Amino acid sequence: MAQDYIVKDISLAEFGRKELDIAETEMPGLMALREEYGEAKPLKGARIVGSLHMTIQTAVLIETLVKLGADVRWASCNIFSTQDHAAAAIAAGGTPVFAVKGQSLEEHWDYLDRSFQFPEGANLILDDGGDATLYVLLGARAEAGEDVLGVPGSEEEEVIFNQIRKRMAESPGWFTRTRDAIKGVSEETTTGVHRLYDLHKKGQLPFPAINVNDSVTKSKFDNKYGCKESLVDGIRRATDTMMAGKTAVVCGYGDVGKGSAASLRGAGARVKVTEIDPICALQAAMDGFEVVRLEDAVATADIFITTTGNKDVIRLEHMREMKDMAIVGNIGHFDNEIQVASLRNMKWTNIKDQVDMIEMPNGNRMILLSEGRLLNLGNATGHPSFVMSASFTNQVLAQMELWTNAGAYGNEVIILPKHLDEKVARLHLERIGVRLSELNPEQADYIGVTVEGPFKPEHYRY
Ligand code: NAI
Repeated sequence: MAQDYIVKDISLAEFGRKELDIAETEMPGLMALREEYGEAKPLKGARIVGSLHMTIQTAVLIETLVKLGADVRWASCNIFSTQDHAAAAIAAGGTPVFAVKGQSLEEHWDYLDRSFQFPEGANLILDDGGDATLYVLLGARAEAGEDVLGVPGSEEEEVIFNQIRKRMAESPGWFTRTRDAIKGVSEETTTGVHRLYDLHKKGQLPFPAINVNDSVTKSKFDNKYGCKESLVDGIRRATDTMMAGKTAVVCGYGDVGKGSAASLRGAGARVKVTEIDPICALQAAMDGFEVVRLEDAVATADIFITTTGNKDVIRLEHMREMKDMAIVGNIGHFDNEIQVASLRNMKWTNIKDQVDMIEMPNGNRMILLSEGRLLNLGNATGHPSFVMSASFTNQVLAQMELWTNAGAYGNEVIILPKHLDEKVARLHLERIGVRLSELNPEQADYIGVTVEGPFKPEHYRY
């Protein structure tokens, strides 16, 4: 049989395996699920398409899904985020994976298509940012005769439309059949979750979706504490710049913004924040950050980081005002937070992979990280294993729920129940030596909970 994977270099598998073994010691949630469900194999029969950064931590997730009985095929959800040794280890272990660090956009969408090609068809999606879901739903709408592959709004959209046309020509009806066979999707990140709620609002969500991002043990940990470690890691690996004493601007003070601002402060930078939401702006101010408008800080700051999940946050007009050798990067999901397209006709000098120096018309130079794609995964290796264990434990629980119980839900977006959120947290306590206190029945009764939990009402915000 022809080889069913695309990786940079399969001989990296041994290195990948060594790092996987280390990561397992830092991912107690996933290892506990292997222990609890490895024998029962609750995912037997599930054919899961994964579209999520192909890192070492993701490799531990994939092997957990396989140990629980699933068949898995995988692509990365970003052209720069793959760790080639992780991909090689997964391919060598027999799971088809299509991911190379630095793949082109055309390859990216081709690889996503390949990850769907189970002989008997896929029946579950594990998504990060919503591209796998988008691919199937857009293709099915095109097959139904809707005019959705018209004039592309961006270079990437053109690539997506071409890939959909290619699949439609090769296998007529494939998108519709695939959509109808999918039992559900679990979504990893804020941006993908926005897309799912939007689909639901428009009546276009054809299966149940589990919003993994808004498990407390995901967004309040990965988005925050994860970025706290991985943002500065990315800037340092890319530039080796001295951060202490520099002025940094963080655009957005949501979960990722809070972690990012803390990351830069921890490195000794003087941090300013921009926000559009008065609540988050007030939080930033009371956390001790100066809250400014970008135009007021743009000429004096040294480092600019977008964390908003919004588009056109750093625009050409801002980049023109920046001082010589300003560093600009994004840690939000998509690259449209910074108007990178508007820089294409300027002079680019590639410094090394995922680091470019761009000369502005006034002669000032700017260092752009990962071409505006999420820099903690493009320039570094993403979040540490321990925090990803919490995220991915939620993912596995979500996949199990969809596979065994999708019929209990309508075509809606749901969040895992709080007792599972608390279970995920509990699984991570021992590894870092936490001794949890216990309620006695009188205390539990007094605050209106049970001794076993859940310990907070749904509206509690942590
Ligand atoms: P969030 O919704 O908690 O925070 C975004 C914040 O940006 C909000 O407070 C919002 O008011 C603010 N904002 C929106 N437009 C703005 C503008 N024009 N100027 C200033 N502020 C603005 O979302 P979260 O969870 O922090 O995620 C942000 C992005 O990061 C998403 O795209 C998400 O998918 C991505 N993400 C990336 C990770 C990584 O490892 N790189 C990890 C987790 C999430």
